[in-house]
Formats: sequence, structure tokens, C-alpha cells
Amino acid sequence: MIDRAKGVWLIDTEGKEYLDGCSGAVVTSIGHGNPDVLAAINEQAVKVTFTHRGAFATEASEKLAAKIAQMTGYPGVWLVGSGSEAVEAAIQFALQYFREIGQPERQHFLSHRHGYHGNTLGALSLSGHARRTVLGGLAYDFPTLRTPYQYRDGEGLSEANYCQVLLTEARTHLENHSGHLAGVVIEAVGGATLGATPVPDGYLQGMRELCDEFGVLLIVDEVMTCVGRTGAMMAVDHWNVKPDLIAMGKGMAAGYAPIAAVLVGERVLAAIENGTGRILGGHTYAGNPLSCATALAVLDVFTKDQVLAHGQRMAKELEEGLDRLATRHTLVGDARGLGMLRALEFVQDRTKKSVALPQGTISSRVFSACLEQGLVVYPSTGGFNESILVAPPLTISSEEITDLLSKLDTALAAVERRMQEAGEITLDSTSA
Ligand SMILES: Cc1ncc(COP(=O)(O)O)c(C=O)c1O
Repeated sequence: MIDRAKGVWLIDTEGKEYLDGCSGAVVTSIGHGNPDVLAAINEQAVKVTFTHRGAFATEASEKLAAKIAQMTGYPGVWLVGSGSEAVEAAIQFALQYFREIGQPERQHFLSHRHGYHGNTLGALSLSGHARRTVLGGLAYDFPTLRTPYQYRDGEGLSEANYCQVLLTEARTHLENHSGHLAGVVIEAVGGATLGATPVPDGYLQGMRELCDEFGVLLIVDEVMTCVGRTGAMMAVDHWNVKPDLIAMGKGMAAGYAPIAAVLVGERVLAAIENGTGRILGGHTYAGNPLSCATALAVLDVFTKDQVLAHGQRMAKELEEGLDRLATRHTLVGDARGLGMLRALEFVQDRTKKSVALPQGTISSRVFSACLEQGLVVYPSTGGFNESILVAPPLTISSEEITDLLSKLDTALAAVERRMQEAGEITLDSTSA
């Protein structure tokens, strides 16, 4: 049970310290207990904590929307309370867009089967995540795209050729379904289900072109990757691609308040402004002043403390350290990621990339062994693989990265030792 937190450290009720090696669920990008943010929360709490946007705007919500628009270049910012809500709202924006322009038959979405977009009906309809089974037949059965996942797919192909294969398949889907498709919804870096797997270079550009060719909106889910997590303000910036809609969340208020948003591009915004002029969505807590003031303070810290540049430097150190661990530990099949969103994928046989144990066993063993060492990591299997995310706050120091890697090294060695004793793994000569 956690009692308090400061910087990258969480302290439980017994006084044990844990290094927050995954920012909770890739949320606490600027670390815990930032005094500027705490002061802003207090200041706003004293002024006003809640008004409903049906009646009023507040300085906090207006300033936040303006700040996000300025940081991202998107003219429309629609505030919601969670990442799942942002994805649902993006779906609704896409549907509204096509009604506004007189194509109401466009109501379907294409997505990656191995993606994750949230735990609500629409979001789970876009995903093959294990959680989808909870919905049974209620999840909408949209066709899905082959997920970019070169570690387990496209073996022997160069990145460029693999990308071409994926885009050729995507084109066929778009050709077959284009008349009733509203959007393609994808993550630029598969997070909660794929252990930090970035799309191949060229994929997003290719998808942008396909969407334009078939008159479909490109919607990128940056709930996990937004606000510097991958080393750019938004992950799509790595490839200079401009989606029509972006869902963002997590790092936007870095865990100091629940808030998320949809970025609305010119085309969609203009269709609504020139059409009905109304958005029929919204949730009670959307744009509430306390969350908005908090997110604004987090974004101010992000800019003022040059968190992006610091995070880029620290991410390089983390990447090199994880690569070293991957060579030392038989259990690690792959080390990958983008910026400060990184992962290790585990296997029992590195050559075959195989896992015989029931799904989720190894990642939960690593999770527990890390906790024993005072390190928190995030299992990111989604029912598809054995991986953990390593995604500490962007504000982590070099010494803390060294500490993180050393704790992880010890935890991996402990899991490997136990697995070797149980005959579940054969350690190779390079193993620690
Ligand atoms: C890419 C992505 N989209 C959406 C969500 C859902 O966000 P939330 O849990 O805030 O509803 C998540 C959460 O992990 C996510 O990683």
C-alpha cells in the first residue's frame, strides 16, 4: 500500500521504497510531488473546483485548450476525463464528420488487432486485447489490420519490405470496405499490448496516403505516447504525419489529475463549424477546472524544465542499458521501444522465440521479482506476449537509471535461476 511519493520514488506504508520504473501505467512523466504542480492544484482548488461546461467556461479550461493547441498545432481540443473517453470521442467525431459532409453510411473503423485503445465498448471493439472477452458478443466486429510487430511477424524481411507488406494488406482492406469506413484507428507505438513496438518507418506516412486516397480519417491513439513519452511531443512527429484526430491522455496531466483530450484537425473542425456547429458529446467531468489547471501546470513544467530534452538524453541511457541486459539474460528475447517508452519481451527459447508456460506467467514473475527489488514495471501482454514496459518518468536522473537497471538485472537473474531450477529454461553462456 503506497503512502507517499516523490520524484521517481514511491514509498509504501512500511517505509519500503520503489523506483517507479513505469510511471504507474506510463502516466507520471514529470515524476511525483512536483511543487509547482501542487501549488497550482491548491490555487485552483481555492478558486473553484467544478463548474459544468454546459453553463460556463473557465480560465483554466480555455488556457489549457490554447496551450495544447499551441504545443501540437491542432486547432481543436476536446477535453475528456480518461484515455478510453478520448478514443470514444474520437470515434464520435469521425462519425459526426461524415454525417456533416453527407456521407452518413461511413460508420466502420479499421484497427490493429493487437492494439489497445481503452476499456469501453467502442474502444474494445477496436482491439483484440484479452479484456475484449468480457464484452462477449457486444463488441462490434470490425475487420482488423495486420499489426506491425516485426519481432514475431515478417521474419527475414527488411523493415522497408515488411512495411510494404503491411501497407499492401491495408490497401486491400480499404478497397474492400471503403464505402462504409469512417476511420483507421491505430497506435504509433503499440504500448499496453505489444510492449513498446513502434510501427515501421514509412508505415504512418503510407497509412496517411491510403486514408486520403480512400476518403477515410486517420485517427492515432496517443493516449500512452503523448507529451514527450517517445522523445517527441507526439509520437507521430517522429514521422511528420498529421492525423485527422489524435486521442491523448496519461502524460497530459502526468497523474496529478484525471484528464485526457482529443485533438481535432482542420478538416474535421471545419466540417462541424460549417455544418451543425454543435458537438453532441460530453461527460460530467470533462473540462473541469481543477483537472484543467493541473494539466496546465504539468505542461508548464514540461516546457519550463525542458523535460523533453532531458527525457531524450535519459532515454538513450535506458535504451543502452536495456540492450546490455538483453544480451546478458537468456530470458529476454527482444529489447525495443521509442524514447522513454521501452520494453523487454521474454521467451523460454531465444532461437525459436517460444514460450511454453501459460500466457502471462513470465511477465508476472518478472513483475513480482522487480517489486521485491524495489522496482515497479508494467506487464504489457494484452494476451499476446510476455513483455514488460520500462517507462520511468522523463525526469529520472542518470543515477536513477543506473539503479533501475541494476534492480532489473537482479530481478531477471532471480527469475532465470528459479526457472532453470524448474527445468523451464536453459541458460546460455552469456547469461548473468
Ligand atoms: C493507447 C491507449 N489508448 C487508450 C487507453 C485507455 O486509457 P484509460 O485507461 O485512461 O481509459 C490506454 C491505456 O493504457 C492506452 O494505452
